Amino acid sequence: MSDHLLLIDTTDGVRTLRINRPDKLNALNAATIDALDAAFADAATDDAVRVVVLTGAGPKAFVAGADIAEMNALSPVQGRDFSLRGTRMMRRVEKLNKPVIAMINGFALGGGLELAMCCHLRVAADTAKVGQPEINLGLIPGFGGSQRLLRLCGRAATLELCLTGAPVTAERALQLGIVNRVVAAAELEAETMKLAAQLANAAPLALRGMLDCVNIGGECGIEEGLEYESAQFGLMFATEDMREGTSAFLEKRKPAFTGK
Ligand code: COA
Repeated sequence: MSDHLLLIDTTDGVRTLRINRPDKLNALNAATIDALDAAFADAATDDAVRVVVLTGAGPKAFVAGADIAEMNALSPVQGRDFSLRGTRMMRRVEKLNKPVIAMINGFALGGGLELAMCCHLRVAADTAKVGQPEINLGLIPGFGGSQRLLRLCGRAATLELCLTGAPVTAERALQLGIVNRVVAAAELEAETMKLAAQLANAAPLALRGMLDCVNIGGECGIEEGLEYESAQFGLMFATEDMREGTSAFLEKRKPAFTGK
């Protein structure tokens, strides 16, 4: 299953979505945003998919931002609608019922970093560069960058990245808490797929409960957040996978989770 803007592969429960506009450094135009929206909607309901890996085609870029050529001619109303289009798609990614890993193979700038920040984990090549360079275009982030960067790494780094527009290296992004891991570019695919395989073998309903605890519980006050976690914890006792996981531990064997 593929369309020309997105290369799609599913192997052993891992769906890889590869944004495929390498000649434009995988810039997000409206059609690519819509293709991603449809692909994530499909991944949400396809039981064959346990984990999604999102990356960019070609050697240079994950995504070098929203499509500047497409934005150049937009009116204020169209600009707002373009922002809402991207934001809706990215919220779908963030709230997906299964883990999404961004495999950052090069530039993740502007909308590219915003898209990576919606993913639940980020593995970057040591050659990658990330940033929010919109200020250089007389713009600000429009797909949630100001809000997600703030939540990921605080005010100082958010303001530094967004006010200067200067990209940072993968290593600096790791120090700032923007990415989870940095690996040699040659190892990026193998290391990311190792992580994806680990998650593909984990209990899907527990993964989903944990994502909800962060996405929903994490946006509440501490009392509500703790209550939410307890409710999710209790819910796990309704799953076959919880019985399997605890029994496997007691029987000193590996668990086989089924998603039930
Ligand atoms: N939107 C539209 N097209 C883009 C793009 C974007 N965000 N980023 C890169 N491209 C296009 C370039 O226009 C160029 O197209 P062309 O060959 O038809 O002229 C092609 O991708 C290759 O980019 P180029 O700039 O020639 O590559 P480079 O290696 O010299 O520079 C970057 C790489 C990432 C530093 C540079 O492309 C860049 O600054 N891109 C914009 C980043 C940005 O501001 N993103 C935020 C957008 S809101």
